[in-house]
Amino acid sequence: MVKVIVGTQFGDEGKGRAIELLAPDVSVVARYQGGANAGHTIYVNGEATVFRLVPSGIIYPHILCVMGNGMAIDIAELINEFELLKSKGIKFEHRFFISQLANVVMPYHKVRDDTAGSIGTTHKGIGPCYEDKYARKGIRIIDLIYPELLKLKLTQNLQSTNFDSIYEQYKDFGEYIAPYVADTSLLLNQWIDDGKEVLLEGAQGLLLDIDHGTYPYVTSSHPHSGGACCGLGVAPTKIDEVIGITKAYITRVGNGPLPTQLPIELEEKIRAKGKEYGATTGRPRRCGWLDAALGKRAIMLNNIKKIILTKLDVLDDLSEIKICTTYKSENSKLFPICELASGVEPSYETLPGWKTPTTHIKNYNDLPRAAKNYIERIKELLNVEIMAICVGPTRENTILV
Ligand code: GDP
Ligand code: IMO
Ligand code: MG
Repeated sequence: MVKVIVGTQFGDEGKGRAIELLAPDVSVVARYQGGANAGHTIYVNGEATVFRLVPSGIIYPHILCVMGNGMAIDIAELINEFELLKSKGIKFEHRFFISQLANVVMPYHKVRDDTAGSIGTTHKGIGPCYEDKYARKGIRIIDLIYPELLKLKLTQNLQSTNFDSIYEQYKDFGEYIAPYVADTSLLLNQWIDDGKEVLLEGAQGLLLDIDHGTYPYVTSSHPHSGGACCGLGVAPTKIDEVIGITKAYITRVGNGPLPTQLPIELEEKIRAKGKEYGATTGRPRRCGWLDAALGKRAIMLNNIKKIILTKLDVLDDLSEIKICTTYKSENSKLFPICELASGVEPSYETLPGWKTPTTHIKNYNDLPRAAKNYIERIKELLNVEIMAICVGPTRENTILV
């Protein structure tokens, strides 16, 4: 089976922990887009650990990990992550593969990234790196392995005086990563044809997709499940299932619309309880009620039949909880994804809260009645199965449904 994991909101839905949950039963985890703008948190030996580049399956020694051609890879960040893995005693030498075709984030990409601050990017050089990719002058992993290629590509990109130091540094980077570089599309297709269980890991979320998100307040790649096909070289007909990861409320870091954003006091309460600060930049995340109108769009575009619902426990103290079911204006029943729809007003349904801790709960039936009602309503509105409900950040805090 080949499954794609997609965030159904604006990122930070808990994709890392969802992959940690699913990974013991799979043999391969492959990441298909984005770069160090992502921050996927998983628990390693009881300690929260953030991975920006390496696939979240890396913590399990039996898993083969791939960084796909659709990614924008910052080698300095990758080397830091290798060090982090080593410090945690995670061995990855013969089970880690980097696509030779992935684009490399260069120092000049970071300098160019959102200088006006209008998008509120992570400043990891992601947009400029993809700009160069599509302008067909990007530097790819393969170019680092062959110094003549690197020199040629750098000459096309760089007139500055620091040419020599960048050349020397990236040539060294090339030597460092060379043992991991592979034709990952070939490997993946062989593994799939061998019948291996494969998870394709998306970063960010559908509403940050360059085409399907709230443009221009988006990232520069395709978190959409289709991004997995191009970003790894896996045909659509080889994908069996798309699993959505949905947080029990919504957050957004960076600029752009968030119609269900909470009033400040309640927002601060949720932010504190949910520790809603960017895993990459530390910025406070804006928080809002679950937006089912937005969710429906993500479910439809990705043909999601099953979701993992995360962070239910963060709502434990509330006396009432709202869900946005639609928008008041006629022309935007689904989520407003273009500038024309800014200022839409959500229509809410209000449900009673449960005001009981849920973190220790292991069985669905043991959840408070009001929590079950909330979950059932989400299921109904999104028209999906719920595979698992997360009631705390670790593997133990999970209710399998
Ligand atoms: P990702 O980018 O989608 O992988 O998500 P992040 O790691 O950026 O953000 C999710 C945050 O929520 C992390 O700090 C997780 O440890 C935490 N988390 C995930 N699931 C739960 C949950 O069910 N309950 C609580 N309280 N925290 C969770
Ligand atoms: P994970 O994988 C949340 C947001 C940025 C900004 C916009 C564009 O952890 O869910 P970029 O640096 O990509 O050009 O920024 O996208 N953003 C994320 N928000 N989670 C992420 O990743 C994000 N990656 C980028 O805040 O609004
Ligand atoms: Mg994150």
